[in-house]
Amino acid sequence: MISGTSVKVTDVTSKCYRVANMSQAYVTLATNDGYAIGALVLGHSLRSNNTTRDLCIMITPTVSPSIKALLHGVFNKVISVDVLDSGDSAHLSLLKRPELGITFTKLHCWTLTEYSKCVFLDADMLCVQNPDELFSHPELTAVTDIGWPDCFNSGMFVFVPSRDTYAKLLRVAEEKGSFDGGDQGLLNTYFTDWHRISFVFNMVASATYTYLPAYKQFGVNAKLIHFLGSMKPWQHRYDVTSGSVQTPAGYHHLAPYLNSWWAIYIRLVQPGIPEMVAQQLAGLHLGQESIQEGLARWERGEPDYLGRDSFANIQAYIDSKLKSGK
Ligand code: UDP
Ligand code: GLC
Ligand code: MN
Repeated sequence: MISGTSVKVTDVTSKCYRVANMSQAYVTLATNDGYAIGALVLGHSLRSNNTTRDLCIMITPTVSPSIKALLHGVFNKVISVDVLDSGDSAHLSLLKRPELGITFTKLHCWTLTEYSKCVFLDADMLCVQNPDELFSHPELTAVTDIGWPDCFNSGMFVFVPSRDTYAKLLRVAEEKGSFDGGDQGLLNTYFTDWHRISFVFNMVASATYTYLPAYKQFGVNAKLIHFLGSMKPWQHRYDVTSGSVQTPAGYHHLAPYLNSWWAIYIRLVQPGIPEMVAQQLAGLHLGQESIQEGLARWERGEPDYLGRDSFANIQAYIDSKLKSGK
């Protein structure tokens, strides 16, 4: 069962960037402010690698108006779409990502028929070299999934917008569903004759340690980095003083790419965020440790003596509690 089907174009803007080739675009999706911040960094990274294509983002009404305003500064088109959700908790639990039913919203990208060809990119990706040659490939071109290489990973795919394909995909969603509960299971059911392209167009960041020799040999060619998995770049801690990400155990290999992501965020995204919006974003733990992470760290016996758990902070906390009588 899926919910929501209509698509509504509420705005068509091009403020900062107007490019010649209007018929082709990179398309991404954000249904909340965290992924919208990811999309802003992705958009800037594509611009700084001199893409000649349009940038288009699909958003749902759950993205705050203030963040939407920032998106207009980077994307040529900001398109409002309804949420499509697989509602398939059984399959999603196999993936251990209950939140990904909402990725069915990606399917709206086939309705963008003002473009002759597009490349979909997940909002948790980063461009490190110009990937425009992707547009010379047919629908559906993608990279193998590292979990099951017979499947493609749906974080990046070349597609041709078509109302007909959109309708067929919705029919398959209704009739067969998705074997992972998200868009990837559905798209792999529909596009069985997909074209495989080099891993450098959707290099899952963890590949740097899963196959280090190959990374040493080919990593230099990477064009698009994918921060696949439950912890996204905007959820890591960032130390303003040292200008680097404090990667938790198990994430050290991602440090160079996380630092590149944060460098773009600090330089190009953060300065545009008004104070009021910055306060809203604090709830995303952008660059800060969440309360849950802090508690888990205490429980592991790893207090952050020089930072959050410094004597001065603990003293201030106790004082505030004494004052409020709690
Ligand atoms: N997405 C979103 N809101 C969500 C979950 C996902 O907008 O709550 C979009 C976003 O573009 C994201 C993509 O769907 O990059 C796929 O989800 P994610 O990247 O988290 O999946 P993963 O690549 O980690 O499997
Ligand atoms: C994958 C893809 C992601 C997709 C998700 C759900 O891991 O990276 O793009 O949304 O599975 O199918
Ligand atoms: Mn992703």
